[in-house]
Amino acid sequence: MDHLLLLLLLWSSGISERNQSSAEPDEVRLVGKASHCGGTLEMKHVREWRPVDFYNWTLKKAAVVCEHLDCGSAVSVQERKSPRRLVWSIRPDCFQSGSKLGDCLRLLPSTTILNLTCLDSVRLLNGSSLCSGGLQVKSSQRWSSVCEDDFDLQDAEVVCRELGCGPPSLLQGALYGEAEAPVWSREFQCGGHESALLDCRSSGSARSSCSPGKAAGLTCSEPVRLVGGASRCAGTLEVKHLGEWRPVDDNGWTMKPAAVVCEHLDCGSAVSVGKKKSTYRFVLKINPDCFKLRSSLRECVEPSYSSSLLSVTCSDLLAQPSIIVPASIDGVSEAQQQELRVSRGSSLTISCSIQPQFPGGSFQLTFTSSNTAYNYTQPAVNHSAHFLFPVTEPAHQGNYSCFYRVYVFSHNFSSESCQLSVTVSGHPDPTGFIIRALVLPLILLLENVVLYFYCKASRGQRLGRPENNKLVNFGVGAAEEGPAKEEGAHLISR
Ligand SMILES: *[C@@H]1O[C@H](CO)[C@@H](O)[C@H](O)[C@H]1NC(C)=O
Ligand SMILES: *[C@@H]1O[C@H](CO)[C@@H](O)[C@H](O)[C@H]1NC(C)=O
Ligand SMILES: *[C@@H]1O[C@H](CO)[C@@H](O)[C@H](O)[C@H]1NC(C)=O
Ligand SMILES: *[C@@H]1O[C@H](CO)[C@@H](O)[C@H](O)[C@H]1NC(C)=O
Ligand SMILES: *[C@@H]1O[C@H](CO)[C@@H](O)[C@H](O)[C@H]1NC(C)=O
Ligand SMILES: *[C@@H]1O[C@H](CO)[C@@H](O)[C@H](O)[C@H]1NC(C)=O
Ligand SMILES: *[C@@H]1O[C@H](CO)[C@@H](O)[C@H](O)[C@H]1NC(C)=O
Ligand SMILES: *[C@@H]1O[C@H](CO)[C@@H](O)[C@H](O)[C@H]1NC(C)=O
Repeated sequence: MDHLLLLLLLWSSGISERNQSSAEPDEVRLVGKASHCGGTLEMKHVREWRPVDFYNWTLKKAAVVCEHLDCGSAVSVQERKSPRRLVWSIRPDCFQSGSKLGDCLRLLPSTTILNLTCLDSVRLLNGSSLCSGGLQVKSSQRWSSVCEDDFDLQDAEVVCRELGCGPPSLLQGALYGEAEAPVWSREFQCGGHESALLDCRSSGSARSSCSPGKAAGLTCSEPVRLVGGASRCAGTLEVKHLGEWRPVDDNGWTMKPAAVVCEHLDCGSAVSVGKKKSTYRFVLKINPDCFKLRSSLRECVEPSYSSSLLSVTCSDLLAQPSIIVPASIDGVSEAQQQELRVSRGSSLTISCSIQPQFPGGSFQLTFTSSNTAYNYTQPAVNHSAHFLFPVTEPAHQGNYSCFYRVYVFSHNFSSESCQLSVTVSGHPDPTGFIIRALVLPLILLLENVVLYFYCKASRGQRLGRPENNKLVNFGVGAAEEGPAKEEGAHLISR
């Protein structure tokens, strides 16, 4: 990016030297729109203004132009059709340092030129990508820093959307440096759905400075997603471009950029990249080289056309299994979120299940107590498995969890449920015994009661992760299948 900036500066000075009297203050401009911060990009060379070839432009390069024009952040690069004519093209090797201006530009005939839009009212400074940095707002031709106390998460949603980034992921004071004078003197009161920060309601805050550590710093997520796969962690890569989700061309992708995508989506590591055939259509092209400098997808996309789309599979593509105890009246005397109390001598069934994603696979129930650890494995039938302990003993006391394993896409995947802690109380429960002996049909009916244990596991709580733990309903079916289910369950005794 710095090379383009250097190029623009060299260019300005080069022209000045050539003819002091006719030196223009700006040799780069955006024309055709009301604001000087959007429109068709034109560059001047040897007294001739010409548009610039659209080929190989990214937001990252556009950001340099916006900054050069003091126009804030770059929000879009667009292709504009034009009659065939000679336009400027910047040679790619010019982005290596040390190039001379004259060597960088060449004239070539083209029918596609570049339109560029900068956002002249809000910018994020000093961040690691166009979607992060210290917040500044422009009014009366001046940029002002914003204090954290005048800015909240709803305001952040508006800024992230306005910049074309994904939803905010972090809002923290002084993350990207201290506030620069002047300081914005109103408190933003966005509802969260406004299209621009300066459209939000605000109230006076009479602030003239931010206390140290209080300059609003914001990180928005990248607008990327995987669609059409078995979960949110596998599928065709899409990037939001000008408000619309667009697939990405598979050209030149390796595991390295894919790893960035998986990590960004909180989906673990990258397992494979592949291609998916489609009709010839508008797509985004991402030069993997762009990643070498910074890991932001959005800055590296170029509009293009292709019939081969990129698909990515990440390691955490499996949903989280749930661990459930279908209540068998004689055993369960008390159940809380992730804890279960059973009476010694009663029977206990622990069911593992997962939402349907792939056929087959197996469940492993692992058990750890203070002095032992063992595990049982069963194939998944109907995406679940039932582990039966006919007579519980104190030795069964401990922590249980379910692992689901499946071999798909030429890889082994696994996913772990949250823990269920089981305590076995000292004496057999005589009441339960009598009830079981006397009123069997009633027991079968009551067996329908499913205790569902909410996971507190961190996995389920991360920002943006969908609810993995679907309530598995053994309900009505279980009443009829009760005995059959017991037969199917694996008998476990020690
Ligand atoms: C410099 O600019 C002036 C006026 O625009 C022009 O008359 C003159 O020929 C230029 N000189 C050179 C060396 O280009
Ligand atoms: C490009 O900018 C011009 C103004 O210079 C405008 O008339 C045109 O509609 C824009 N085209 C696109 C595709 O944005
Ligand atoms: C496109 O731009 C990138 C980054 O400046 C550069 O590395 C690459 O070589 C260019 N590609 C072509 C085909 O010009
Ligand atoms: C950007 O960084 C510079 C120096 O690293 C610092 O002086 C400045 O305050 C920062 N700006 C913002 C808006 O955080
Ligand atoms: C079960 O897990 C809990 C918390 O994770 C822990 O405090 C307890 O000691 C564990 N119990 C056994 C028997 O390992
Ligand atoms: C399961 O048990 C087997 C032996 O019984 C052991 O080799 C294996 O490591 C155990 N797996 C887990 C995940 O504890
Ligand atoms: C699997 O579940 C479906 C409905 O959930 C049921 O109709 C089917 O009989 C079950 N199959 C087995 C083998 O349990
Ligand atoms: C997948 O797991 C199975 C069973 O654990 C093992 O036999 C197989 O080698 C594994 N395959 C790969 C590619 O890791």
